[in-house]
Amino acid sequence: MSKEWEPRIVAFFCTWCTYTAADLAGISRMTYAPNARIVRVMCSGRIDPQFVLKAFADGADGVLIGGCHPGDCHYQAGNYKALRRYTLLKRLITELGIEPERLRLEWISASEGDRVQKVMNEMAETIRKLGPLRLERPLSQPLPDTERGAVPLTVSGRGL
Ligand code: FES
Repeated sequence: MSKEWEPRIVAFFCTWCTYTAADLAGISRMTYAPNARIVRVMCSGRIDPQFVLKAFADGADGVLIGGCHPGDCHYQAGNYKALRRYTLLKRLITELGIEPERLRLEWISASEGDRVQKVMNEMAETIRKLGPLRLERPLSQPLPDTERGAVPLTVSGRGL
């Protein structure tokens, strides 16, 4: 009997907000797509771009980042840092041949269990439509220089 493909999603959640919201969703018995493996981090600003690239390199079909709403970060500006990195990562993964929809950032506070449910379901559906991630080349390989003379990118390079 063949097993139908299911998306593998890695979710990096800030412990103070989104992780707590996911906990709340569980306690409240809200069901949502079980495709995500949640990685708890102290702040969305702790998410090094390499975490995201490694997740894709190691087989994730999608990556979800969850943090506190702007202005609510427990470390002042971690989520603004996360937003800047996310914006750059979107462009970077597109260059690497990964659809930008495979990476998503959401601000979800501790009381928004229902939002975790909605976002998890939407993310699973988006990735299901895109299908499994098939990389043209391993992410650890440098990109060929483009006509624009771009600097080759590697996963092992310094964080953004
Ligand atoms: Fe939640 Fe910084 S503490 S995003």
